[in-house]
Amino acid sequence: MERAARLWLAALAVLMAQTAQAACVEVIAHRGASGYLPEHTLPAYALGYGQGAHWIEPDVVLTADGVPIALHDLTLNRTTNVAEAFPDRAREDCLHHAADFTYAEIQQLLVVESTPGRFPHRTFRVPRLAEVLDLVEGLNRTTGQRVGIYPELKDPALQPELADALLQTLAPYDLPVLIQSFDAKALAALETEHPKVQLIDWNEAVTESLLDRIASYAVGIGAPKALLLNAPNIVEQAHDRNLAVHVYTLRADRLGEGFESFADEVRALLDIGVDALFTDHPDQALALIDTDERLCKTLRAPVASPEKPIP
Ligand code: G3P
Ligand code: CA
Repeated sequence: MERAARLWLAALAVLMAQTAQAACVEVIAHRGASGYLPEHTLPAYALGYGQGAHWIEPDVVLTADGVPIALHDLTLNRTTNVAEAFPDRAREDCLHHAADFTYAEIQQLLVVESTPGRFPHRTFRVPRLAEVLDLVEGLNRTTGQRVGIYPELKDPALQPELADALLQTLAPYDLPVLIQSFDAKALAALETEHPKVQLIDWNEAVTESLLDRIASYAVGIGAPKALLLNAPNIVEQAHDRNLAVHVYTLRADRLGEGFESFADEVRALLDIGVDALFTDHPDQALALIDTDERLCKTLRAPVASPEKPIP
């Protein structure tokens, strides 16, 4: 390579290192490949991994005996058969709260698909977070990739022991980690070496002072697609503060308003400069790699071979 080209590439590398704007856009398997298999199940996470997602996203909730599990809601009713299995264990609000059940009890439940038209069978169980981490770290070992885990602290104000349990569970694993939460107070206070992403609600006013505050403790924001498409200047303002912008949630079977295809919706978000996509259908986002070089390639390291055995 000519010297001028090498210098130009070196300058570009320095520039990229100084900005949150990613060199290419990553894909996050939202609740696993949850468009194909029930959310927050080991098969859904494994499928998301196999489809080439760069990050696997579990939401995290604590059981009565303090076990972090992969679950979106604080209650079990939307995604399991808990009402049939434990009819007398609902609270006054008629809901079965995960915090009232031991993990041994939750293990008895079957996961139920909650989105109409998706996976038809009740086959899978609610996993512990540690099982999700085993899966991703184990697959990284056997495939030679370095896929990351992107856990969300769900309602930490209502689960004061959740943050410590999450950090303790993550500690033995060698994985790229991003920790996300909607709870700014809890996320800012979280003492960890893992980078943090502040989630923003669809009705939140994203002011420059809010972004300044987030930049003091996080490496990025996670924002709803409609918010960003309506106010794309947020992306630039975030990048100005060295904050990455991750957009949620792209669903091939539930397109955003005004879009006629999933590919169009993905491209519209790439056009405004987002750095990562939360999606229930990682394969359909990654299928655009062939025609859109803004997306990151999937295989980050060669698969183990006899010449390069698994260490
Ligand atoms: O964590 C990003 C996105 O997943 C936030 O929405 O409700 O799916 O956890 P939710
Ligand atoms: Ca989430």
